[in-house]
Amino acid sequence: MSLNEIAQAHLVRTVRLRGMDLLNNPALNKGTAFSRDERESFGLQGLLPPVIESLDDQCIRAYQAFSLKTSDLERHIYLRQLQDTNEVLFYRLLLDHIEEMLPVVYTPVVALGCQEFSHIYRRPRGLFISYPLRYSISALLRNHPNPEVDVIVVTDGERVLGIGDQGVGGLGIPIGKLSLYSLIGGIHPGRTLPIVLDVGTNNEELLRDPEYLGWRHARITGAEYDSFIDSFVAAVKEVLPSTLLQWEDFSGVHARPILNRYRDQLLTFNDDIQGTAAVALGATLAAVRVAGSSLPEQEFVFLGAGAASTGVADYLRAALVTEGLSELEARSRFWMVDRDGLLHSSRTDLTPEQRVYAQPSSRISPWFRPGGETLGLADVIHHVRATALIGLSTVASAFTEPIVREMSAKVDRPIIFPLSNPTEHSEASPADLYRWTHGRALVATGSPFPPVEYGGRTIPVSQCNNVYIFPAVGLAVVVLRPSAATAGPQRITDAMMIAAARALAEHSPALGDPSAPLLPALKDLRSLAVEIAFAVAQEATRSGIAPAFESSASLRSKILASQWSPAYPAYIPPSP
Ligand code: NAI
Repeated sequence: MSLNEIAQAHLVRTVRLRGMDLLNNPALNKGTAFSRDERESFGLQGLLPPVIESLDDQCIRAYQAFSLKTSDLERHIYLRQLQDTNEVLFYRLLLDHIEEMLPVVYTPVVALGCQEFSHIYRRPRGLFISYPLRYSISALLRNHPNPEVDVIVVTDGERVLGIGDQGVGGLGIPIGKLSLYSLIGGIHPGRTLPIVLDVGTNNEELLRDPEYLGWRHARITGAEYDSFIDSFVAAVKEVLPSTLLQWEDFSGVHARPILNRYRDQLLTFNDDIQGTAAVALGATLAAVRVAGSSLPEQEFVFLGAGAASTGVADYLRAALVTEGLSELEARSRFWMVDRDGLLHSSRTDLTPEQRVYAQPSSRISPWFRPGGETLGLADVIHHVRATALIGLSTVASAFTEPIVREMSAKVDRPIIFPLSNPTEHSEASPADLYRWTHGRALVATGSPFPPVEYGGRTIPVSQCNNVYIFPAVGLAVVVLRPSAATAGPQRITDAMMIAAARALAEHSPALGDPSAPLLPALKDLRSLAVEIAFAVAQEATRSGIAPAFESSASLRSKILASQWSPAYPAYIPPSP
């Protein structure tokens, strides 16, 4: 489609629905913005108040209604309801108030939305694939209202953010993530599909809750679980081939094996592992440059050695190797502490992913105190000159004052990223980190925090939010598809994700102004997504995953033209 055709398609649309069917369709509904002609043509006269509003007018009124809500949950419910009533208005409102509303549709407030899912449920959105229906997954996928889907986000709700097993309530996460694909990446909302794989729940509270809307059963596990996931992937390949499939909030036990099993079979990635890794790598690369240092000079300490931590470490390690370190040297720069202490080679409980980061026992044996069997974070910080401390442990306040002070006594600009979500699980608050380091720390958090007043200046806090990466990856995939009828790239590679991270780092405001935040402002996300999608697409074409573009300019203009924006096209009825 040419740019002109795209613009035309956006301006005028043939619509078959009429009357209440049209008003009840969130993708098509314009509410009070239906024009006089449209009201006549589509049988809407009398169904709407007489005043005809513009989208701008509607946004003002919707914002007033939003502002009257008195709790985060009510604000979340309001926005979700707006999304299910009038999608264009929902996205336009979000774009106008992105800093204020992003945390309400997504982290941290979406956690409440998941916990209360069965109590606040109103209208269907997305697909529920329950274990008892395991023999008809293809049929369920075909029930999706829109024939073409660019992006699926799927969860089994077992490890939702940092709040554990939410069962079918986990669907709130794919819904929220896909809203961001549309808002920031510009993926058309009608071409997104949230899915929850309802394999039961082990959350006793939910099982006891008479309102719980999921399959009331303990989680299935083992071979039954694996074969269910296999059936799901087979159905996606059959019904929606070439669709980007993002795995989200699976437990550590399943996340990595699922990614390893399917990453070479279809266009897929795990956001908790690869998305987190890319954004953390981007923030770290920026921080290292602001610190006036270089990547090979870094020594990384992680609290938590789960799916997210090993993913972040893998990308940092790849970057270290790119910068000239041997694989062995690169591995020696990582100190990972989990709930059983520092990972080292004598431990027998490590997964293959964790074993990569096990320090040789000989290196640390002198550190053990008599009678002590494990080494904790404080021990590691005491013995290592850590330049970067990354928390992905879900342990609130684990970065204590003595730990942070000891670290910062050894380095000029300590890089400290408490990344656990939601807010109450954060390993430290930015205010404390600035205080304890006398404003020297380079901080990025997992959850949003308000700016910190320190030393007479206001320091905005960067949120290491995956939203910097995944919508842009989706946009790149859409752009790399030669046409709606032809398949595009079939794989998401780590190199594509690392290209995204490097592009993010290049756009760090702190590179130009060391007192600016490490990561770009949320209001710039949409234009940043274009730059990141550009880098991802270039890497895909460079490595032969996708066919090359005529020129960088044509790639960039296709990316820009592919971004959907919330606006009302004019509707015309089908010709008789
Ligand atoms: P996971 O369950 O796979 O790993 C948690 C890790 O923390 C495990 O290694 C566990 O042993 C360790 N841990 C637990 N208690 C500990 C203790 N007392 N001391 C030391 N280590 C302890 O979970 P996953 O997926 O790795 O996520 C971890 C956290 O990271 C969550 O809070 C999640 O919300 C957050 N996260 C943040 C992201 C972001 O900010 N962009 C993205 C993905 C995850």
